[in-house]
Amino acid sequence: MLNEIKDKINYSAPKDVKELDVINIFELEKTAKTVLPKDGYDFIYGGAGDEYTLRNNIEAWNKKGILQRVLADTENPDMSTTVLNQKLQLPVIVAPIAAHGIAHDSKEAGTAKGVAEYGGSIMSISAYSSSNFDDIENGLQGNNRWFQIYMSDDIEVNKNVIDEAKAVGASAIILTADTNVDGRRERNLRNKFVYPFGMPIVARYLKDGADDTSSETVYSRKKLKLSVEDVEFLANYSDLPIFVKGVQTPNDALKAIGAGASGIWVSNHGGRQLDGAPGSFETLEDISNAIQGQVPIVFDSGVRRGEHIFKAIASGADIVAIGRPVLYALANGGWKGVKSVFEYFEKDLKTVMQLAGTQTIEDIKNAQLFDYNK
Ligand SMILES: Cc1cc2nc3c(=O)[nH]c(=O)nc-3n(C[C@H](O)[C@H](O)[C@H](O)COP(=O)(O)O)c2cc1C
Repeated sequence: MLNEIKDKINYSAPKDVKELDVINIFELEKTAKTVLPKDGYDFIYGGAGDEYTLRNNIEAWNKKGILQRVLADTENPDMSTTVLNQKLQLPVIVAPIAAHGIAHDSKEAGTAKGVAEYGGSIMSISAYSSSNFDDIENGLQGNNRWFQIYMSDDIEVNKNVIDEAKAVGASAIILTADTNVDGRRERNLRNKFVYPFGMPIVARYLKDGADDTSSETVYSRKKLKLSVEDVEFLANYSDLPIFVKGVQTPNDALKAIGAGASGIWVSNHGGRQLDGAPGSFETLEDISNAIQGQVPIVFDSGVRRGEHIFKAIASGADIVAIGRPVLYALANGGWKGVKSVFEYFEKDLKTVMQLAGTQTIEDIKNAQLFDYNK
């Protein structure tokens, strides 16, 4: 226990703030490894078990190909789109992530400022953020935000955090449904990793007087018995659109919609939960076919290139969310790095759209991917 406390005090996150020349995300990942403490990098990078699903999330993209189209006007592609009436200049948003403080000294506020300075995106705020809403607002400056909740077994805690999220302007609630228990992340076990910051958004509402540093207490209060009733509760109580995050099967998508979900978030938590699962992209098309456009789909897990955004949208996603790329950017360059990573995705998607003969997000939705299995 003494060692754990020492580790908490000793954790030293990068502090540099600079623009990044992002060639690709895999290189950004490599440089992040050189600037982060080993246990912090492993926490961010790692997946569960053999990391089979983590690898699948990347390999899955190669199961479909983009067919180039010629004799098409590609002068000025328009990457803007809307989701739940919110305008985005790029179909990319920030996934909810618990640990920005592990990546950079500026924590969530740094990410928020990067998103705000880029403009036209959405920051998903994790209930397990290392900052409170006020600090995040210092970076976000009124920009769009959604709030992600892990249900607590104490209904009052859920109500309190939703009230607060609403009060600070969250325009949707994301119910993460795939993390009732944590996947067995062997890197963290090997490093004896201890979450070095508190979880101030949730911790202060816990009845047992837990302070900001008690992530273990927060975890232990997660609700294990999730059901459609939780979706109904969130929709009724918050009066906000609810996304159910962690959907990987058509049936679960339909179940969530039946319970009042306004959006489906296709994700396997970046390979951090159930190892042995397919790549998230492999599950997307069937889910999209099943729900037939009833509600928007957010896709995440493994998005690293413009090509991936294109393939996800062509397979039924409305927008994609990025997790690790944001933290790698934050680690390398603080808020300026986060802005740079959005600019990278914008440039890369633009090139892919032009080469594929598409002008708009609608064109991508209508594009037919090449299926190697046929
Ligand atoms: C370090 C880290 C912390 C995360 N924390 C949360 C969280 O608090 N809530 C949540 O719903 N998902 C969390 N996720 C999962 C992301 O929302 C997202 O599903 C995943 O990162 C997408 O995969 P990618 O990293 O390959 O982009 C976390 C992911 C990482 C890498």
